[in-house]
Amino acid sequence: MIHYKNEEQIELMRHSALQVSKTLTETAKILKPGLKTIDIDGFIGTVIKDLGGKPSFLHYHGYPFNSCISVNDVVVHGFPGKYELKEGDIVSIDVGVFKNGYHGDHAYTFMIGRPSDEVIKLVKITKESLYKGIEKAVAGNRIGDISFAIQEHTEKKNGYGVVRELVGHGLGKSMHEDPQVPNYGKRGSGPVMKEGLVIAIEPMINLGKKEVYTEDDGWTVRTKDGKPSVHFEHDVCVKKGKADVLSNYTEIEKAEKENGNLFADY
Ligand code: MF3
Ligand code: CO
Repeated sequence: MIHYKNEEQIELMRHSALQVSKTLTETAKILKPGLKTIDIDGFIGTVIKDLGGKPSFLHYHGYPFNSCISVNDVVVHGFPGKYELKEGDIVSIDVGVFKNGYHGDHAYTFMIGRPSDEVIKLVKITKESLYKGIEKAVAGNRIGDISFAIQEHTEKKNGYGVVRELVGHGLGKSMHEDPQVPNYGKRGSGPVMKEGLVIAIEPMINLGKKEVYTEDDGWTVRTKDGKPSVHFEHDVCVKKGKADVLSNYTEIEKAEKENGNLFADY
């Protein structure tokens, strides 16, 4: 069942989404080689609390951390731990904030120092594909129009692997609502979108093949071929004519540049 949101609910959802954006911005400022991913997670927990929210992921189906921190060949749902970031890594940080009855849930892939040229390109193309998907999130279009746009830009144009097992989703009082939003599919297929639908669009794109597996911890999803994977996620409200992006990357991008990421203006 799809829950459409009215103006007031959309503003509450924008607030939750922007709390995630703020958390990711603060996180962007501290990222550097040598930092342990568990310490990033602790920092994220503190920022969310200081903003007056609750981490949506903690205890979600038993998930044991504030955030998901997925390095290199980890696609999503990586456990924070003793791993220390190193020069050339890419790290997807996925954060959820619950506040005023609504969830914000979005993610960003950061570069640590200088990854290889092919990885920098993967990051760039995956982010572009998210915006190509967002362009299609307008009333009257179908979910498949978003899916097709993402697959077209990543798989067809650039030969990347589009993960099939995990998809975007509706968002609201629950973190996962209907409909599912796959990153692959046919134009003109799936449910018709109406104004007030809020979805999380989240391409998960592999440099190599599309196949993934889940580790014995029951959460960590990795590429089968061991090649890196990139994940970007925005919270988007469907409107007539143009989608309303509730989350925001502007400050995150500014922070990552100020933090010395020379490749941030990709
Ligand atoms: N943003 C992710 C999603 O949409 C992460 C949630 S998994 C969790 O599925 F368990 F950590 F919450
Ligand atoms: Co999500």
